[in-house]
Amino acid sequence: MEINVNKLTKDYCNGEVRIRALNEVSFDVKHGEILSIFGPSGCGKSTLLNCLSGIDTPNSGKVIIDGVDLHSLSDNDKTRFRAKNLGFIFQFYNLIPVLNAVENVELVLQILRVSEKEAREKSIEILKIVGLGEKINSYPSQLSGGERQRVSIARALVHNPGIIFADEPTGALDTETSIEILNLIKKLNSTYNQSFIIVTHDKKITGYSDRIIKMDSGKIVSFEENGEEK
Ligand SMILES: Nc1ncnc2c1ncn2[C@@H]1O[C@H](COP(=O)(O)OP(=O)(O)O)[C@@H](O)[C@H]1O
Ligand SMILES: [Mg+2]
Repeated sequence: MEINVNKLTKDYCNGEVRIRALNEVSFDVKHGEILSIFGPSGCGKSTLLNCLSGIDTPNSGKVIIDGVDLHSLSDNDKTRFRAKNLGFIFQFYNLIPVLNAVENVELVLQILRVSEKEAREKSIEILKIVGLGEKINSYPSQLSGGERQRVSIARALVHNPGIIFADEPTGALDTETSIEILNLIKKLNSTYNQSFIIVTHDKKITGYSDRIIKMDSGKIVSFEENGEEK
């Protein structure tokens, strides 16, 4: 899926103080690319990701996803659009502790009213693809950080979304595990050709992406292409 971002502006108000977290940010995301959004802590990366994915609402500007103006949708339509088309990966995994790996993944399909049998089959299949075929019945507390992130990647992908949003996906992992997770993302991207938007302050991640947007103080300061062919 493609995204067209046009003059996104987002202010936060803390009492009397107004912070401009995003200042007229515009860019496009192409179908099937891995795009990193890179910059120092506090520059507005998470705010941008949240406005792109409909978690947060901008003060002005537009986000057009495959021709759909995301923020003009009603709350119900937006929720439905997100559940069907978008996948999410978080720094701290956001898994449900009382559910095992396959149940965590299945939840996404239950929301989409997929039958129990099909949901179970699809969830097991994607857990195998991310290398967790042996751990489908393990609870988050029984898994390592890298394994938890694999479950969360499986959950992000199980409904075959067009775009996957990841906010600091390796932020809680050591270097070796981060590289494993990045290789997995790269492999999934080349297999399924979904668009990935990855927010990071970690330079390492940018090497795995097709394009890098650098941000500072709520603005884009540069666009860079990675030489590597796709
Ligand atoms: N909910 C919020 N309320 C008030 N200020 C916020 C909120 N979320 C973020 N900010 C502020 O907006 C700016 C950008 O934050 P954020 O998007 O989280 O940056 P990053 O993800 O790049 O670290 C920062 O100055 C931050 O303090
Ligand atoms: Mg952030």
